[in-house]
Amino acid sequence: MPDTISPAEEKQTIFSGVKPSGDLTLGSYLGALRNWVDLSEQYDCLYCIVDLHAITVRQPPAEIRSRCLSQLAQYIACGLDPVKNTLFIQSHVPAHAELSWVLSCYTMYGELSRMTQFKDKATKNAENINAGLFTYPTLMAADILLYQTNLVPVGEDQKQHVELTRDIANRFNGIYGDVFTMPEPFIPEVGARIMSLTEPRQKMSKSDTDTGCVYLLDRPEDILRAFKRAVTDSDSAVRFDLQEKPGVSNLMGIYAAATGKSYADIEAEFAGQGYGAFKSTVGEAVVELLRPIREEAERLLKDKAYLTQIYTEGANRATFLANKTLRKVYKKIGFVAK
Ligand code: TYM
Repeated sequence: MPDTISPAEEKQTIFSGVKPSGDLTLGSYLGALRNWVDLSEQYDCLYCIVDLHAITVRQPPAEIRSRCLSQLAQYIACGLDPVKNTLFIQSHVPAHAELSWVLSCYTMYGELSRMTQFKDKATKNAENINAGLFTYPTLMAADILLYQTNLVPVGEDQKQHVELTRDIANRFNGIYGDVFTMPEPFIPEVGARIMSLTEPRQKMSKSDTDTGCVYLLDRPEDILRAFKRAVTDSDSAVRFDLQEKPGVSNLMGIYAAATGKSYADIEAEFAGQGYGAFKSTVGEAVVELLRPIREEAERLLKDKAYLTQIYTEGANRATFLANKTLRKVYKKIGFVAK
């Protein structure tokens, strides 16, 4: 066994990823990345920059290239130790695309048609409803199943894709025996669905152009401004009510996730104070949460040689593990060995 393989092999495996289709947001941090860091001691973790997924929507080449590096710096700056975690870029490991093709032959058209993310994206990109947008979940299933993953820490919007991954794995295992480990989604109780600050009924999304998005590398003054402008309602009570008060409830969710406070504590803290003080306090809590991440990411981004070394080593280890599964899959299907 090559010595790039860590002794953590007996631990259970985690796989997760973020698309470099925009800069990392407060939503992806609270919904996913923060849990990656929390879980990274107990599991053998692979965290990927899923560039193959990003091109289902057109990306300017220079932007996707620089975002991949910046995303890697932000993964590390969030607290992911590159010695303990395998950090890599998806297109560096061809097995993802290879298994994706195989799995697409075990995924039903009807299943893919039911994916809410496909329906959403097809509406938003009516001029480019490409086949990749439709088969995206089979690539995601390949990402997860290649590493015999036990746990997939994601925000709520990815739950349906992880469930489809389980259905595909079940179908494949049903035909060929136990080839794939059955993965479970890991979705946080607080922070699983952070909404836009300006349109609180819509998910905060890195690829949206509205101003209700907060990015991990935003300057403190921009973050404070975004929270001051956050949409609330005509009432003045800080109270959690997703139906009637989506803006206030979203801010409470962000504040709870940033500070660890309960909704009851937050309601008590701002009783009788109105929204001005509340919005400023939430903004300041987010500034403090993100400050060390931005500072460390900016420092790391100056060291391209270090980042290159991390993603190269990451791809080597990921390739080794992925090829083990791919060989097994090819053998089970009946392909002639090379
Ligand atoms: P992506 O790039 O859209 O988002 C990355 C992660 O961040 C979470 N997230 C959010 N959580 C809470 N509130 C939000 N507003 C918010 N926005 C994003 C997402 O749920 C996700 O966990 N298909 C995936 C990427 C992927 C993947 C995988 C994930 C590809 N292969 C394999 C896990 C395992 C995606 O588009 O995530």
